[in-house]
Amino acid sequence: MARLLVTGGAGFIGANFVHYWLRRHPGDRVVVLDSLTYAGNMASLAPAEGNPHYRFVHGDIGDQPLVEQLLSEEGLDTIVNFAAESHVDRSIAGPDPFIDTNIVGTHNLLKAAKAIWLDGSGKGQPHRFHHVSTDEVYGSLSPDEPPFSETTPYAPNSPYSASKAASDHLVRSYHHTYGLAVTTSNCSNNYGPYQFPEKLIPLVLINILHGKPLPIYGDGLNIRDWLYVDDHCRGIDLILEKGKTGEVYNIGGNNEWTNIDIVTHLCGLMDEMVGADAALAARFPHTPAATGKRSDSLITYVRDRAGHDRRYAIDAAKSRAELGYEPAESFQTGIRKTVAWYLANEPWWRAVLDGSYHREWLAQQYGGGEKE
Ligand code: NAD
Ligand code: TYD
Repeated sequence: MARLLVTGGAGFIGANFVHYWLRRHPGDRVVVLDSLTYAGNMASLAPAEGNPHYRFVHGDIGDQPLVEQLLSEEGLDTIVNFAAESHVDRSIAGPDPFIDTNIVGTHNLLKAAKAIWLDGSGKGQPHRFHHVSTDEVYGSLSPDEPPFSETTPYAPNSPYSASKAASDHLVRSYHHTYGLAVTTSNCSNNYGPYQFPEKLIPLVLINILHGKPLPIYGDGLNIRDWLYVDDHCRGIDLILEKGKTGEVYNIGGNNEWTNIDIVTHLCGLMDEMVGADAALAARFPHTPAATGKRSDSLITYVRDRAGHDRRYAIDAAKSRAELGYEPAESFQTGIRKTVAWYLANEPWWRAVLDGSYHREWLAQQYGGGEKE
């Protein structure tokens, strides 16, 4: 039975991972540590509440004494580090929190793991520090270049990807220098339930429902490799089970799309679903298909993101060969599941849009005074 600390478990991928893990490994202990930034959402963890194997702790990965205490008192043997500032646009507007959490926070987490698992009360116990990273550390590809492999040199271009690259190097160094049992995964763009609606797919979905413009940065021809979030979770599970310590594994969807094609596909899907369901048209009267119009009429080209990477693509051959990793979800099925989830969970995204998702939980915990 594994005993996990899942950092950033109230975020998009972290929450999906918690649900995945409790489903696939019933009986394992799952302790979530999350500081509940704007991106953390307790409503995303609601399905885990009441499970005796799950515990939520409100705290920061940079709080080394707290992490050491949790590792000791819970006898934890595994850390899966999702906690991060994750949005490129925010990193351009204000890089400081990216440095604080992604670099300094990850380093404090490493120090806590070393203090307990290598030097302290857990000395000698089998352990694993898994660090969740991104393909963005490899920089940008031209259309004809081969996809990123684990040996592609790092060339991060945004403050976000530079901070993730720094954290990857720190994780590597704690293995090489101190012998901490680490693994790292670099994954492509995820989509699925519980994604904060500042990222492309949920933003476009919700804007279509409201009949609002769909902002396309630049010429819309930037390419991303999209992966359904559960396939990412399965990839991490395989790395924890079969991965070699000190190694890096790329996880991807083999599913490259230009942004304009993704948005056009979503428009077509929404038109089809609303057209076939009068109740949906009544629920969302401003969505174009409710009045016989096309959602792609909302597409609006806007100023490009500064330093916008042209193309990301992942070569997952190593994960396939060494771990038996293969994405289970096709894009067609994954995107339909995602749209269905957003339609069935309107209160979740409405609370995110009006900001009440934080206020309610924090007020319950701290008696009305916000503490962030
Ligand atoms: P997210 O922004 O949705 O969630 C991040 C979570 O971390 C939030 O719950 C937030 O409250 C928490 N957090 C932030 N700072 C913290 C701190 N100092 N201490 C404790 N908790 C803190 O992010 P996501 O999209 O779920 O991404 C999770 C991880 O996966 C990140 O490390 C990201 O770099 C990586 N990743 C994301 C993608 C993607 O497409 N979203 C792709 C590849 C890799
Ligand atoms: P995003 O979801 O922010 O992920 P990342 O920047 O980490 O890849 O963006 C995905 C792509 O979509 C990226 O090329 C930027 C583009 N994009 C838009 O064109 N419009 C938008 O409103 C957003 C949020 C993103």
